[in-house]
Amino acid sequence: MQIVVAVFIEAAMKIKVSAPGKLLLLGDHAVVYGYPCIVTAVDKRLYVEAEIINDSENKIIAPQVKESRFVLESIATFKEKFKIKASVKITTRGDFSHNVGLGSSSAVTVATFKALSLLFDSDISEREIFDLSYEVNLKIQGVGSGFDLAAANYGKTLYFIKGGKVIEPLHNEELPLVVGYSGVKADTPFYVRKVAEAFKSKLNKMDSIFKQIKDLVEKAKIAIEQKDLTSLGREMTQNHYLLQQLGVSIPKLDAMVEAAIKAGAYGAKLSGAGGGDCMIALVSPKKTSAVKKAIAHVGGEIIEVNNNADGVRVEN
Ligand code: PMV
Repeated sequence: MQIVVAVFIEAAMKIKVSAPGKLLLLGDHAVVYGYPCIVTAVDKRLYVEAEIINDSENKIIAPQVKESRFVLESIATFKEKFKIKASVKITTRGDFSHNVGLGSSSAVTVATFKALSLLFDSDISEREIFDLSYEVNLKIQGVGSGFDLAAANYGKTLYFIKGGKVIEPLHNEELPLVVGYSGVKADTPFYVRKVAEAFKSKLNKMDSIFKQIKDLVEKAKIAIEQKDLTSLGREMTQNHYLLQQLGVSIPKLDAMVEAAIKAGAYGAKLSGAGGGDCMIALVSPKKTSAVKKAIAHVGGEIIEVNNNADGVRVEN
């Protein structure tokens, strides 16, 4: 009987949650300067299991070193805020590698806060989880708009302004996207700084590019809500050309984008900071196979992923 009770308590003390990865649909880089972007959550998820342990130290089991920094900082922030003394063990597992740029750090941060809030039964709102996660993100990376944390936290497809000034869910269904991985790991802080340097020396030119990106984001928002894929694709492609002008694309991403468009995509662009990671193409079902082949033909790796996915949630 005693054993049964012990097993029950042990089971009750383990919390498992998951948060989704993301793809930036439009507005990359401009969002760092206060302009809006559109992000969608994807069904490749990051899982976090949390339990209280009888130890003086917290224990992190994270397969990727990069993630454990985010987990450690999230635990420290949470324990400080809620004056918690107990140690915890956090175990993480991802449906995807941090190399592809789908946002493993943001997903693990949001998932850690969610798991800890359930483990310690803390009174914490959805918004506070976003705010605390953003605090951790800035502490570690020093730069960033927080769009990826919003996707991990709220899920679905969001119109977003830096720091969560605006987080507006768009009422859409899944978008028919094809995702191609360039094979190159992007260094996001490097590219954010590169754009910041250019911004200092060519303020007018850069600001004009950001404003053009903003206009595309606003048009794309309407196109998404009206299910107008032709316009949305056109806006995505124009956004790619503006990102080229910002100096963040690379020949491999350009080749994948051009290949997708030539094979009949409504539009295509790099997604994220540039310098590598993924590109996305908006494609009608009839053209999907041709677009995938065209991207693979120029060396891209197709990543099978659905978008408009759920935000952070409890897993059984
Ligand atoms: O490289 P990613 O997928 O983390 O995207 C970075 C997007 C930027 O706009 C360049 C930076 C940001 O935090 O918004």
